[in-house]
Amino acid sequence: MVTKPIFLIGMMGSGKSTVGSELAKRCNLPFFDTDAQIILQEGQSITTIFKDHGEAYFRLLERQQIDQLPNEACVVACGGGLPCQGDLIAALVAKGTVVYLKASADVLFERIQDNSTRPLRTDLPSFQALLTERESVYEKAQIVIAADQTIEQLVLEIMNKLSQT
Ligand code: S3P
Repeated sequence: MVTKPIFLIGMMGSGKSTVGSELAKRCNLPFFDTDAQIILQEGQSITTIFKDHGEAYFRLLERQQIDQLPNEACVVACGGGLPCQGDLIAALVAKGTVVYLKASADVLFERIQDNSTRPLRTDLPSFQALLTERESVYEKAQIVIAADQTIEQLVLEIMNKLSQT
């Protein structure tokens, strides 16, 4: 039985929101998406928040989302850069179970190529460099799952791994 938050982490395009929402449904848990919560709270798109207030402000909002979370079982899809701020990954690991949806830069970049809502999606070399920079943080997750599977397979694999923790 799940008794603490499940945090889905990984790069843009790894499927955190879709998998998270499905996983929450199957486990009958509340679902939070940090990007969606921030958009709702600020009444602005992420691109506009980055443009008008800067990335540092957005990162502050992400940290607040984690601080505000109830300390009970739920599923949280974290923005791609969220766990990479200071000691936030350690806080997530201490507070719940962190699941890293892992895929190569090529696969991820291809998946989000038509998406204009992500200000940090630029060109493939920069995307690859960002993944390389973040990988050691993402790998601190208690569970690592290959993200290049169907949503159904991912949900089942996560549920299976969670039952073993
Ligand atoms: C970001 C990822 C985005 C969003 C913002 C910054 C990042 O979330 O939080 O554009 O730094 O990787 P997704 O990972 O849900 O796309």
